[in-house]
Amino acid sequence: MKDIMLMARAEYGDALREEAARRWGAELLTPVDPDEPDVVRFSGSSALRVWREGRDSLIFAAQWLADPVLVPPAKSGAPPDPGMLEGLAVLAGGTASWTVHTFASGRKGEPGPSKTAGMLGDALLATCAERVPDLYARYVPPRQAGADTKVFQICLTSRGAWWSLMQARDLLDRFPGGEHRMPFDSGAPCRSYLKIEEAFDVMGCSPGRGEKVVDLGASPGGWSYAFSKRGCDVLAVDRGPMKIEDRHSSGGRVRHMRVDGIGFRPPPGWDRTDWLACDMLVAPGVTFGLLRRWIGEGALHRFVVNVKLPQEQPDPVLEPLETYLRSVPGLRFRIRQLYHDRREVTLMGELGRVRKKQK
Ligand SMILES: C[S@@+](CC[C@H](N)C(=O)[O-])C[C@H]1O[C@@H](n2cnc3c(N)ncnc32)[C@H](O)[C@@H]1O
Repeated sequence: MKDIMLMARAEYGDALREEAARRWGAELLTPVDPDEPDVVRFSGSSALRVWREGRDSLIFAAQWLADPVLVPPAKSGAPPDPGMLEGLAVLAGGTASWTVHTFASGRKGEPGPSKTAGMLGDALLATCAERVPDLYARYVPPRQAGADTKVFQICLTSRGAWWSLMQARDLLDRFPGGEHRMPFDSGAPCRSYLKIEEAFDVMGCSPGRGEKVVDLGASPGGWSYAFSKRGCDVLAVDRGPMKIEDRHSSGGRVRHMRVDGIGFRPPPGWDRTDWLACDMLVAPGVTFGLLRRWIGEGALHRFVVNVKLPQEQPDPVLEPLETYLRSVPGLRFRIRQLYHDRREVTLMGELGRVRKKQK
């Protein structure tokens, strides 16, 4: 590995650069190309370090490309440039199944570039079918990719189309470009539901029947709905109205408590909190203080906590949080800007066990 390219979501390139500079040193960053504001690159020995350390720590990188190859714009229309066909030759030399991920970087709300990237992928596949049928027989659609599947990533930026070959298990996110789209449930009252579903997917675990949940900032009820449909017992804390049923057919139950969530403590008789969920619209420092208290009191097992970001420079807000979480014995955690997050990031964590009853 000589080169690694990190892709931020549109408009989060500065946040990613700031984060990367904190982790690995600003002097190691490859200078910014003004045409690619949402791309951060490392070359040489630092690329390997980023590769080793970044997988579980990067917050603002949606996806990454190892040893990317640039096909300049003039050449990047269909049929695929010979540069890209080199990738097919590498794949043809192996025996693994393979798939194609296409996406575009840095053009918020513009469908055009993603469409162009998709067309490059289609052209690549058509060429493969025609010229290397044995390799084409090993192609699988992205959803059917396993951990060992090779992924031919094509990322379109203003400089052209970058391609890279990686194993699916080595991607930062298994979805093309990190666009970790979750299916909506028509019973959910709002799109916030997608954030918690994505968090469960990223954590690799979801709540089970009978688990006890405190959901702070619960209105109108997207997160509470996600828990209750899995049969959980939910305390939904918010002064705002809930737009979901108190009881779900799965056996899940939601009790709405119209109180402030910041200093909230569960009522007597609530013997444990399997999940703390928090999506309150409050300053990051308030969320940090609250999470510290809950962890300090040892009264939770898992948490999904959303932190609303300041308009500028999120890293100085996130660094102390990360340092604190790292200092908690027995805590496994991730901080990520999820695909369904807006100007926010999500903290996901699991303590070894519920340590004691909350006073
Ligand atoms: C983004 S919404 C939450 C959406 C919710 N997670 C869902 O899935 O429906 C933020 C919520 O935080 C609530 N909130 C803000 N400050 C709060 C506080 N101090 N205590 C409790 N709730 C608060 C607001 O009333 C608002 O409903």
